[in-house]
Amino acid sequence: MPLLDIQHLRIEFVQGRKRLVALDDVSLAIDPEEVLGVVGESGAGKSLTAMSVIGLLNPPATVTRGQITIDGRRSDNLTDRQLRRIRGKIVGAVFQESLTSLNPLYTIGRQLVQTICVHSDLTARAARGRAVDLLAEFGLSTPERQLDAYPHQLSGGMRQRVVIALAVCANPRLLIADEPTTALDVSTQAQILAVLRRLRREYRTAIMLITHDMGVIAEMADRVAVMYAGRIVEDAPVREVVAHPQHPYTAALIGAIPRLRRQVGRLTRIDGAMPPLSALPRGCAFHPRCPKAFARCREERPPMLSSGGGRAACWLFDGNG
Ligand SMILES: Nc1ncnc2c1ncn2[C@@H]1O[C@H](COP(=O)(O)OP(=O)(O)OP(=O)(O)O)[C@@H](O)[C@H]1O
Ligand code: SF4
Ligand SMILES: [Mg+2]
Repeated sequence: MPLLDIQHLRIEFVQGRKRLVALDDVSLAIDPEEVLGVVGESGAGKSLTAMSVIGLLNPPATVTRGQITIDGRRSDNLTDRQLRRIRGKIVGAVFQESLTSLNPLYTIGRQLVQTICVHSDLTARAARGRAVDLLAEFGLSTPERQLDAYPHQLSGGMRQRVVIALAVCANPRLLIADEPTTALDVSTQAQILAVLRRLRREYRTAIMLITHDMGVIAEMADRVAVMYAGRIVEDAPVREVVAHPQHPYTAALIGAIPRLRRQVGRLTRIDGAMPPLSALPRGCAFHPRCPKAFARCREERPPMLSSGGGRAACWLFDGNG
């Protein structure tokens, strides 16, 4: 049984007089201990997907169709209290802006101890010990001293480690990491990725890793879901995707990574931009940019079809086409 199972999720919102569909028919699953990479251009719907899993979707966006199951239980019709329990205990989350996920008025130690106490029976003292252990494990030198620091006194990379420690201090089975390294420089980025690898290795945490960076996915993930204009366009094992991307959009993403390009021996460019939700084209949303588009693509929207080792939403893989 998958740990997370999203089925036919649709998210809409009203903008002016228009009703826009931000996510359409998004289905994806994550098995226990699996790392799923979610990749796609800005505005593709990655964060909306993540937010809906932890029940933190901001208005005006609302779920209008589909269902989300976490560890076998529907999560999209829970009370706030039940959701809070799932967050932390079963699902932890880390977002790009580490500053906004920490309270600037409290020390790191106070925030960690508080969160640990909420999710365990530990005394404040034992919780402090656990906080020190976690920070040490995630590579903060002198963790004892860092506990007394306020968020603004730490570097971006240190803060992001604290945020990860907060997200995983109750040993969740799934960590949602939404662009956890985007705001960081390259070497700090590598350190944060090492922390995620460690989580997976030692705590067997499943991870939904959201990023723009196909290189990070190739390095970290078991499987990848590629999103475009509110839909999943490819879902396949990462090795397959790197070696034989099926969807033309995925092929373009892979082609944009110099190192991987050499590996797969192909050079692709991706011209143009993803259309805004208010102006999604008919048929396949990628057709205006697709080098392989043909007549059908401009008329009919492709469903997910089996292709290679996974599935892709592209008419090229329609056996009857
Ligand atoms: N709470 C919301 N209410 C209404 N629309 C939203 C909301 N959040 C995001 N959107 C819109 O939905 C679309 C998808 O947004 P989302 O934040 O999921 O993209 P993303 O793939 O995470 O992009 P990025 O890589 O820039 O973070 C965008 O057009 C965005 O403007
Ligand atoms: S359905 Fe057509 S336009 Fe869309 S990705 Fe496939 S070939 Fe390109
Ligand atoms: Mg986002």
